Amino acid sequence: MSHLFGHSGAEGTGYSQPPALKPATAPSIPKGLVRQDAARWPRLSEPEMVRHYTWLSKRNFGIDTGFYPLGSCTMKHNPRVNEVIAQLPGIADIHPHQPEHQLQGLLSIYYEMQHMLGIVAGMDNVTLQPVAGAQGEFTAIRCIQEYFRLRGEDQRTKVIVPDSAHGTNPASAAMAGFEIVEIPSLVDGRMDLSALAAVADETTAAMMITNPNTLGLFEADISEASRIVHEAGGQMYYDGANFNAILGITSPGLMGFDAVHFNLHKTFSQPHGGGGPGSGPIGVKAHLAPFLPGPVADRSVATAEEVGSCVDGYRYHWHEPEHSIGKVQQWHGNAGAVIRCWAYYRRYGRGLKQMSEHAVLNANYLRHAIHREAKRAGVDHLFADGAETDVAKHEFTLSMQPAKEALGVSAMDVAKGLLDRGYMAPTVYFPLVVPECMMVEPTETESKDTLDTFAEHFAQVLNTDPKELHEAPITTPVRRVDEVYAARNLCLKHPFDDV
Ligand SMILES: Cc1ncc(COP(=O)(O)O)c(C=O)c1O
Repeated sequence: MSHLFGHSGAEGTGYSQPPALKPATAPSIPKGLVRQDAARWPRLSEPEMVRHYTWLSKRNFGIDTGFYPLGSCTMKHNPRVNEVIAQLPGIADIHPHQPEHQLQGLLSIYYEMQHMLGIVAGMDNVTLQPVAGAQGEFTAIRCIQEYFRLRGEDQRTKVIVPDSAHGTNPASAAMAGFEIVEIPSLVDGRMDLSALAAVADETTAAMMITNPNTLGLFEADISEASRIVHEAGGQMYYDGANFNAILGITSPGLMGFDAVHFNLHKTFSQPHGGGGPGSGPIGVKAHLAPFLPGPVADRSVATAEEVGSCVDGYRYHWHEPEHSIGKVQQWHGNAGAVIRCWAYYRRYGRGLKQMSEHAVLNANYLRHAIHREAKRAGVDHLFADGAETDVAKHEFTLSMQPAKEALGVSAMDVAKGLLDRGYMAPTVYFPLVVPECMMVEPTETESKDTLDTFAEHFAQVLNTDPKELHEAPITTPVRRVDEVYAARNLCLKHPFDDV
């Protein structure tokens, strides 16, 4: 099977294009821009086209293909009912430029989603504008920056992050112009409060942290951290990528945070990966609300004339917050993602708490199952837990450092060995504080059978001849790539050219 453009310009079969437009038939198109020849698009018959895309889909790996325990990324099953709802003509066929009175249904969904996210986060206001977690971080940090600017506190130029933070936290703050101050973690992987107290002062704008942290550990001292930062006059920013562990159980608001982003594309299902499409709304306490990027959905009680054309007696409208930092995204953010996640949230309701409980249970079960199977196979000395803890939250870390020292087998080798057994590999080499780290997040949507089988395979990989593991993967369409070479010799040639 060759790629589609192998058929470029082939004569005859399959789809035939209409003749190129002549200037006479398209007078509005400037003459120089009118095509003289037919475009060299592939000309394939329908079966050829179907086979091509089916072939491509088989070369890919996704959550619908197999288990995807990618730590921090919360790759869970995407219920198909979300797709059905997002594709309803009243939703999928509307144009963002339509006037408000024609968008009452969409606006009411936006309003409800903002409200529901505010509840689970313990925040007062939400904007659905950002389209990725990282963009949410940047947006919220900019709101905090404007808040201080308006208060005349321009000296607040630094943002504190723990050394276990996701790289996007310091990157977002640095993009907004802040100086980054990193504080070390304690040996058990949790935040060091005395290190925080030593750096929090009148130059602190914010602390950015995720809880549970990137090692899957709940930061039990988070209220004390909030107190320290607030006493210094700074703001607390919650990275919501790990929301899957706490929904309905506790909230960033209760922990003392002022701003949060949601990774809707993780916690609330919605296909995720490959750079998008995502959705990273942010929630804030009331004092930051005037700075949110708009438009945000708002509503007022409908007048007697309006009531016939309104949803539930309310007239919905777009609103631009008074001191908005400005737009961060065109239109209304990623509407398709918002709708899918709204459908998911509506379906779960109060069951979100159970969802988080199952996510935590699955992570802890899998961690113990991996130890059990490794012991059975006599390879339990080849890895260690990445953090000292009896109970992890929704994810856990393993260190392959012992395997590296004993056999020269790295976390990368183990990850590639898992690919050959039909799994997406766990996240590797993150967080940086764990040597030869593998970070595993099974999510609540996997069965006990799947977790047990994965644990067996994990032990089998550790039992594989190291020489074989260095060669892995051997069953995937693309073998192990030389990442350093690839980064230094960027080649944008179509990857299927030689197939
Ligand atoms: C802890 C954490 N924070 C932030 C992000 C950034 O989110 P996004 O990938 O949606 O930009 C991620 C993504 O992997 C994450 O794991």
